[in-house]
Amino acid sequence: CGIVGYIGTQTATEILLSGLEKLEYRGYDSAGLATVLDNKIHALRAKGKLYNLRNKLANTEMLANIGIGHTRWATHGKPEERNAHPHLSPDGKVAVVQNGIIENYRELREELKSKGYEFKSDTDTEVIPHLIAEYLSQLSAENAVCSPSTFVEAVRQTVNRLTGAFAIAVICADFPNELIVARQQAPLSIGLGQGEFFCASDTPALVPYTQTVLSLENGELARLTYLGVEVYSFAGERLNKMPRILDVSPTLVEKHSFKHFMLKEIHEQPGVVRDCLQAYINSNWDLEFEAKTTDELHPATVDINQSPIELGLPDELLENLEQVQIIACGTSWHASLVGKYLLEQLADLPTTVEYASEARYAPSPLRPHTLIIGVTQSGETADTLAALSMEKQRRLNAPTQFKPRLLGITNRTESSLGQLVPHLINTRAGIEIGVAATKTFTAQVIAFYLLAIDLAWRRQTLSQSRVQELVKGLRKLPSQIELILNTQEAKIEDFSHQFSDTKDFIFLGRGINFPIALEGALKLKEISYIHAEGYPAGEMKHGPIALLDKDVPVVAIAMPGSVYEKVISNAQEAKARDAHLIGVTAKETLEESDVFNNILPVPLVDELLSPILAVIPLQLLAYYIAARRGLDVDQPRNLAKSVTVE
Ligand code: G6P
Repeated sequence: CGIVGYIGTQTATEILLSGLEKLEYRGYDSAGLATVLDNKIHALRAKGKLYNLRNKLANTEMLANIGIGHTRWATHGKPEERNAHPHLSPDGKVAVVQNGIIENYRELREELKSKGYEFKSDTDTEVIPHLIAEYLSQLSAENAVCSPSTFVEAVRQTVNRLTGAFAIAVICADFPNELIVARQQAPLSIGLGQGEFFCASDTPALVPYTQTVLSLENGELARLTYLGVEVYSFAGERLNKMPRILDVSPTLVEKHSFKHFMLKEIHEQPGVVRDCLQAYINSNWDLEFEAKTTDELHPATVDINQSPIELGLPDELLENLEQVQIIACGTSWHASLVGKYLLEQLADLPTTVEYASEARYAPSPLRPHTLIIGVTQSGETADTLAALSMEKQRRLNAPTQFKPRLLGITNRTESSLGQLVPHLINTRAGIEIGVAATKTFTAQVIAFYLLAIDLAWRRQTLSQSRVQELVKGLRKLPSQIELILNTQEAKIEDFSHQFSDTKDFIFLGRGINFPIALEGALKLKEISYIHAEGYPAGEMKHGPIALLDKDVPVVAIAMPGSVYEKVISNAQEAKARDAHLIGVTAKETLEESDVFNNILPVPLVDELLSPILAVIPLQLLAYYIAARRGLDVDQPRNLAKSVTVE
């Protein structure tokens, strides 16, 4: 879900709507907003996309200078107007928007019902305005003179009754000059403008107005007035906080001439990969290398004590490692599987990749000298943050060899992940808006190449010439991605038309390209709603082969290298069952034209680097199949870009 709030000199509704537009990728089941004017709450909600709310607003004049807004990804209660936020107290005086889940809402609901409060929605959120109203009436009955305000005190008492993860923004008809926000395990930032203040669950809603932000931490609430911002702990203690300046450009969240953000982000990949490599490959080392061929390179010309990779990570984090544990969800989990392959094969480090939602409730036995890596494009995924936090906690009091060594891989360094872990690799992909991850995936994979090569260098598990080969290969990737985009996009668009009515797809890959089969299948199902499965090619015969017939296309990722022949054999098994066989392969090789019905060609590269190229045609295939079906590519049904609930 997305939350916004505004208090200042401008008309609130326009600012709230533009903020919600920037956050709509976080959820789009329904939207709503509320303002305070003349000591009355004015609220409006609409089911479905934000434009429905905008249309409704066209007939209403909302002139207030203070308000809150919400775009919803349904958790409790169907996506209907009565479940849309803001939720109001029964007297209509308190309005609340919430992102998260209130776990004890049933008990609170019963308690409030027994006091005569009525509920109009099926949501967990509705208990919040009711509780605030209850505390407001108790405080006024007690004639309590609260400092700094009765309103902030009522919200403070309320948040202390809530369990779960939540971020809220609240306004009240009787306190027309105050906007209260609170954060507990769900993101919320405050934007400081000139004579105006903003709040939002994510920074894209703030950057058009201000780059100066105060990020609330868990257990903090803030009172925004026309004059300034005060921050308190849930215990009521006044806190001093320093704002920071964001390094996010507003133009990054524009679509420019592309039809969808996803297509724009696919095209950003050469630049992202180039930028990431330039940032982290030691330029002296690289230039030295670039100047000569491998044969000419005299060992003395390269400082063999210096790693070619400079990630800016301290030696204590990376020395004497015995294993790596990676925690992630979704597409980041797929990038992590490529990472596992690289860390094991290049740096000789046993590596596990855990789904964050599973790791939370079944922690693996504590192992010594473990590097724990959290991978997330949003930096806000609740499960990933919670699993990392659990790992941190359980290792804090353990003997030295178990002490937490935490590293984050993300493109959003300003996110909650950045606050949780002491070290980050910034993948430099920037913010991604299309719900289906593309450029953030390739950037995460690049980060794993760099980390694995750095560790291989430190642990001396690769020869210098192999490292040189890999670095040189990495350097070529941006132009090779460009080549695929320039030469294949139109063909893939054309080719994708034949799958408009296809119901199922199978993706096969082996070794380092098995995760790419998973990712190709995920991309397709996310945005085209076609059922798709990714399998290790050798596993197909143990089940999925039963699904095959002429109506089930099989995409086989067959990149020349150690498992190439094996994948071709597995593909033949599919062909023998009449499957329509599509090969993602290097066009320099082969007999493939005999095997595959269609080929999506990519340049020939070192097998270890091939995932970065193999994924590009699969992203384009998913995009064009979905676009052809007329689907909402950037905001597919039921999904959200940043899942801040468990
Ligand atoms: C959501 C998004 C996916 C993403 C996953 C994990 O489901 O729609 O694109 O891969 O969350 O998100 P993260 O931000 O942790 O990478």
